[in-house]
Amino acid sequence: MPLQEKMQKVRGWIQSAQRVVALTGAGISAESGVPTFRDAQTGLWARYKPEDLATEAAFRHDPQRVWDWYAWRRELVANVSPNAAHHALAEFGRQHPGRLTLVTQNVDGLHQQAGSEDVLALHGNIRQDRWLRPCPRERFSERDCEPATATEGRPPKCDVCGNQLRPAVVWFGEALPEISLFRADEAAGNCDLMLVIGTSGLVYPAAGLADVARRAGARVVIINTGPTELDDLADCGIRCKAAECLPELLLGETRMGVTAEEGV
Ligand code: OAD
Repeated sequence: MPLQEKMQKVRGWIQSAQRVVALTGAGISAESGVPTFRDAQTGLWARYKPEDLATEAAFRHDPQRVWDWYAWRRELVANVSPNAAHHALAEFGRQHPGRLTLVTQNVDGLHQQAGSEDVLALHGNIRQDRWLRPCPRERFSERDCEPATATEGRPPKCDVCGNQLRPAVVWFGEALPEISLFRADEAAGNCDLMLVIGTSGLVYPAAGLADVARRAGARVVIINTGPTELDDLADCGIRCKAAECLPELLLGETRMGVTAEEGV
C-alpha cells in the first residue's frame, strides 16, 4: 500500500481511538541530533560497549570513565531541541486531554521539553543524578546524603559517607521504575491504539508493551525508518522519519516530505 494511503488509514485510526499509547525510542530524537543506540555507524552501541559504560559494575570499576561518558551525552542533549515529532505528540496531548499516554525509553528529556506532561520515562532521565546506594546514615537519621553538600568531582561524592552520584538512568540489569512501568503496562492493556515510534523493539520490558496492547485487542502501528523486531505484530508499518509523519498523523498537518513525494 502506498505511504500516503497508509497515512490516511492510520490518521483515521488515531481520530477514532479513545485511548492512544505512544511508545517512543531513540529514533524519535534522531532528527534533533541525538544519536540512536543500534543504527549502524551512528548508533552509540556501534562505537561503545554497553557493558563498559551502562552497568553498575562498570561504574563501580571506573566511575570517572562512566561519569565522563554521561557528561558528554548530557552536554549533547543540553544543546539540542525537540523536533516536530516531539511537538506533535505534545500538541496532541494538549488538544485531547486524557486520551494519550506517552511512554518513552528515551532519557533525553525532549518530550518533557516539548511540553508533554506526565511522560512515563521507563529508562530514567539523563539530566538528573541519584545516589549510587542508600546513605548508611539513613537508617538512623532518616536523611539521605545531601546533593547540595556533595563534593565536586567526577563523580561528585557525599562529603560525609563517600557515596557517589550517578546518572538517574536505568542501566543494563537494573529494574525499571516500578510505578512508571505499572502505569505503562496498564495503559497498554487498556488502549485501542498503540503507536510504536522510533524504537528497534529489542529491549524488554518496554518492547513487550506492544504485545500487551495487541493481546488486549488494540491496533499497533509502527513508525520507523527501518525494520523492527515488532513488525510482525503490527497492523500497519509506516516507513518514515518520525518528524516528517507525526505532525500529519496526529494533527493533520501536511508536511512536504511525506505528502508531496508520495501522495500523487
Ligand atoms: P535503537 O537504537 O535500538 O533503535 C532506534 C530505532 O529508531 C531504529 O529502529 C531506527 O530504525 C529508528 N530510527 C532512526 N531514525 C529514525 C527517525 N528519524 N524516525 C523514526 N525512526 C528512526 O533505540 P531504542 O529502541 O530506543 O536503553 O533502544 C532501546 C533501549 O536500548 C534504549 O532506551 C537504551 C538502549 O540500550 C537504556 O538506556 C536502558
